[in-house]
Amino acid sequence: MAIRFDEAQKIFHLDTATSSYVMEVFEQNYLLHLYYGKRIPDHNLKRLKYKGSFASFSPSNLLVEDGGFSPDICMLEFPGENVGDFRLAAAAVRNADGNNATDFRYESHTIDAGKPGLAGLPALYVEDDAEATTLEISMKDAVTGMRAILYYTVFEHLGAMTRSVRLSNESARPVMIEKVYSTCVDFPTHNYDMITLYGRWFKERSEERRAIVHGRQTVSSLRGSSSHHQNPFGAIVSAGADEDQGEAYGFNLVYSSNFSFDIEGDQNGGMRVLMGINPDGFDWLLQPGADFQSPEAVMVYSDQGIGEMSRIFHRLYRKHLIRGKWRDRKRPLLINNWEATGMDFTGEKLLSFARVAKEVGMEMLVMDDGWFGDRFDDRRALGDWVVNEEKLGSSLPEFVQKVNDIGLKFGIWFEPEMISRESALYRAHPEWCLHVPNREKSIARFQYVLDYSRKDVRDYIFDAMRKVLSSANVAYLKWDFNRNLSEVGSAAVPADRQKEIFHRCVLGTYEVMERLNREFPDLLIENCSGGGGRFDPGMLYYSPQIWTSDNTDPIERLTIQFGTSLCYPASTMGAHVSACKRTGYDTKANVALWGSFGYELDPNTFSAEERETVKAQIAEYHKYYDLIHSGDLYRLINPMHNAFRAAWMFVSEDKTEALVTSVVMRRPQETAFYLRLKGLDPDKLYREEESGEVYSGASLMYAGLNLIGTDLSDGSSFKLYFKEVK
Ligand code: DGJ
Repeated sequence: MAIRFDEAQKIFHLDTATSSYVMEVFEQNYLLHLYYGKRIPDHNLKRLKYKGSFASFSPSNLLVEDGGFSPDICMLEFPGENVGDFRLAAAAVRNADGNNATDFRYESHTIDAGKPGLAGLPALYVEDDAEATTLEISMKDAVTGMRAILYYTVFEHLGAMTRSVRLSNESARPVMIEKVYSTCVDFPTHNYDMITLYGRWFKERSEERRAIVHGRQTVSSLRGSSSHHQNPFGAIVSAGADEDQGEAYGFNLVYSSNFSFDIEGDQNGGMRVLMGINPDGFDWLLQPGADFQSPEAVMVYSDQGIGEMSRIFHRLYRKHLIRGKWRDRKRPLLINNWEATGMDFTGEKLLSFARVAKEVGMEMLVMDDGWFGDRFDDRRALGDWVVNEEKLGSSLPEFVQKVNDIGLKFGIWFEPEMISRESALYRAHPEWCLHVPNREKSIARFQYVLDYSRKDVRDYIFDAMRKVLSSANVAYLKWDFNRNLSEVGSAAVPADRQKEIFHRCVLGTYEVMERLNREFPDLLIENCSGGGGRFDPGMLYYSPQIWTSDNTDPIERLTIQFGTSLCYPASTMGAHVSACKRTGYDTKANVALWGSFGYELDPNTFSAEERETVKAQIAEYHKYYDLIHSGDLYRLINPMHNAFRAAWMFVSEDKTEALVTSVVMRRPQETAFYLRLKGLDPDKLYREEESGEVYSGASLMYAGLNLIGTDLSDGSSFKLYFKEVK
């Protein structure tokens, strides 16, 4: 059983393939945290149990046999606020008396096969109850009458678990939730490094590593999206851990709005790690009898380095986060017109794209921004989701029919959460965008953000989208989001609920996305936010791929794709070959092949030779699709750590084939180049396709390949494909 409760010792033991997670119900029903780390099968955990100790200035409210007890110096599972623990609290609830003293104690628990969904929120799922086990611990604050249900789901075979919290007001008076984190883990030492992903528009998710110190260290978002700037991912790794060795704990929040990942190094040398909704900008009024469900946090443990942590995330997300038809179905190879035309296109121009695209083997034409209302530039028309037939030269169904007749599927762009100041919708409903009374609304890209906390707004937009989508044979939708939220307030909720709007808006977005998924189950949805501004597991629940970045320069893409791969699988990363100036088509395709492959250019500009190159790339896309989309990723040379080269490889699950890619970012200092491969079976023999040479897996991994003589010029690259020989 993946989850056990030892009645005699009052200990919970949660096991996965790689990890154990242990808690103790202590005196006075304090729920203590005992251990999270490499799997320990033991039943006898006496030595882990809390031993009292004393620290001056740490209040003691209970005496135990062998010393004092203070919540301030022990490892707590769900610490409250203002009750003697001075570290960051996992929850704080201001009660009707006006104070926020919050103290949850263990009351009861259940252990069941399977995993429940979270109402209104994206979450990992199982198809068969045998795939996971769930523990629900019911905690009660005796003074305020608040209840907290702590959910722990263990994906035993995958080395992963999820956590979330549901707060219920069981008192007779309203309370205000000031904060509720989704997960909180105390560690006995803070001798670790922290890895997070920072960036900005056009430069998303660069890896950053720093030693954890005493005090608080945080990465977060207050932008109303998970953001380009920090990702709701963080890893805690042992000092010196690298791709292949050392401990790595990965945390990822299934949420697309304001998050916070906090670490506090404490006086005992320990640390507390928390992840959840950012408490800044958040309050939630909970009436008697009402519930509040936190988003879900995912936790992965590996004792085989950061690389294995990533591969656990990838396996987990491919099977238990991505949903629907496109989880397992091969995704069409698309061409998108945005970088080639912007909004300056006609139906005829797009059809000319489609003809060449078909000839070289592409499978779908995506019509990006500019097809609706008077959207000739980015100053207008968001919200007016009516096809501009004059621009297209026909109605949408007629146009799509022409694309289909050429032999391509058709996809379309929307930005459903936005409204232009210059739009019929804004003129009709200025109160439908987020705003606060008497204060000017900040404008960004000439647009405001629709108030998705309002059902009338969501219904209106969904109906407008439904009209377009059901009018023609639309196979794909790109859902874009091109600004962050400011002056966050709603005309539709009372003053004491205004700090709920960030969260209510993202719940509204999830609701519309869920309706789209249900009503159009065959539609492939690609998420986008000015590139990868909402690259998070929340969005992946509704859309199996995300446009990774507006930056399509293949050298720039390397750090973005390496960073993104820390927890997101290749199949989720939209990656296109574009007309950008740097590197030739070979390198552009070698880099884009890493993700959900496509093109973003005017194919009419291809020379005869380029057409043949592109045809060959498309053949490679088909050849390597399964290996890349379902194989294991090994990062060989990380461009954040090496100024000259990057290299990575995919290995099939059965280790019978592998694809290695290497790119020169800048002419290397040394000409010698020995590349050690990873993830192969040392006892298998592999033939390298181009040279025909056969090597053992052991030789490829331990001695490596001598690659002296490969092209050293800036932007050059190569691929090597290995197949097992029996
Ligand atoms: C930002 C996206 O990232 C681009 O790909 C494109 O869709 C534009 N928006 C359109 O406005």
